[in-house]
Amino acid sequence: MQIRFVFCLVFLLYSQTSHAQSEGGLSLSSVSPFPVGFAVDPVLLKSDRVFRELFIKHGDGLTATNSMKPSRIIREKGRYHFEEADALIDFAVKNNKRVHGHTLVWFNESAPRWLKEIRDSATLENNLREYIRVVGEHFRGKVKSWDVVNEVFDDLAGDVRIADYNEKGAALLNLGGVLGKDYAARMFQYAHQADPEALLFYNDYGQETNPGKLNHIIRMVKDFKARGIPIHGLGIQMHINIDTPESGIEKVIASFAATGLQVHISELDVSMNTGKTKQFRPGAAQFLQQKQKYRFVVETYRRLVPASQQYGITTWGVGDKDSWIPQFCNCSDFPLLFDQEYQPKPALEGYFEGVGTK
Ligand code: XIL
Repeated sequence: MQIRFVFCLVFLLYSQTSHAQSEGGLSLSSVSPFPVGFAVDPVLLKSDRVFRELFIKHGDGLTATNSMKPSRIIREKGRYHFEEADALIDFAVKNNKRVHGHTLVWFNESAPRWLKEIRDSATLENNLREYIRVVGEHFRGKVKSWDVVNEVFDDLAGDVRIADYNEKGAALLNLGGVLGKDYAARMFQYAHQADPEALLFYNDYGQETNPGKLNHIIRMVKDFKARGIPIHGLGIQMHINIDTPESGIEKVIASFAATGLQVHISELDVSMNTGKTKQFRPGAAQFLQQKQKYRFVVETYRRLVPASQQYGITTWGVGDKDSWIPQFCNCSDFPLLFDQEYQPKPALEGYFEGVGTK
């Protein structure tokens, strides 16, 4: 009896060790002092075992790639669809992962068409307030934090975005134009009413190379603080490429840390195809540059953001197979930590080195 027990124990320990080794050793979450996040799509989570296992192994938390956007939750007026997001949250709870909500308000072309058609400011405001109330209450206690408003500022003047269409002619939700330049403050107030416990973030992209936008964000934070508008964190999307200047990355991280708010690198990926060509295939030089960039971002985050303000680093996907970039740039690209077959890339080593374990 005893011999059989010992045999079972030895077998169990052996099989666990070999399993861990076959997965490639250390996990990011076990060595990282800050929470490691990934953007996760529930369909992929269900259908792709390797994707799921890599996320469970390396991640402390998730952001829904699309499932918690208004484009999914309220495509038709008055009909809320929570199934996808709820499944994701069940999965997160079972696996003890943190959930970051993304995003309550977004101007982008994917916004529901019926919302984009509203031209009357009071009607739009009421619809958004109601949306934030219903969604905030639905996820109360399950979502630790929210990106309340995504991408308020435009790329040219860096001021509040006022546009009915994007450069490709697709209709946008003209938040600034219909609601006025101060709309974001009110959205934060609505979010706080809907879920007083949730940490509320402002999220944006391109601050590394757009000082005007960076200044506008900092000014907005100071203004919010002066007026007592609830804001707890800033998201740096950090969709960068292998040539993005290190000085720009340092500047945004340092400026955001100086606000005293939580700092989340919220959608990290490092594009290699700077020429955006369709046939691009990376060589050893690009893999190395990508690795160095990941290491630099992680190391700089640790160096410049006080530990108490490190909300975490989230990469926008797990492997190149699930990256959004190729579709967005209509080119080939390989911006993530794992490759098309979910094998680790030099970029992953760079991340580990930035964390300081290798
Ligand atoms: C992207 C998703 O990854 C795509 O699947 C979708 O088609 C478009 O949106 N900034 C953001 C994210 O805040 O929500 C975007 O996600 C990527 C850019």
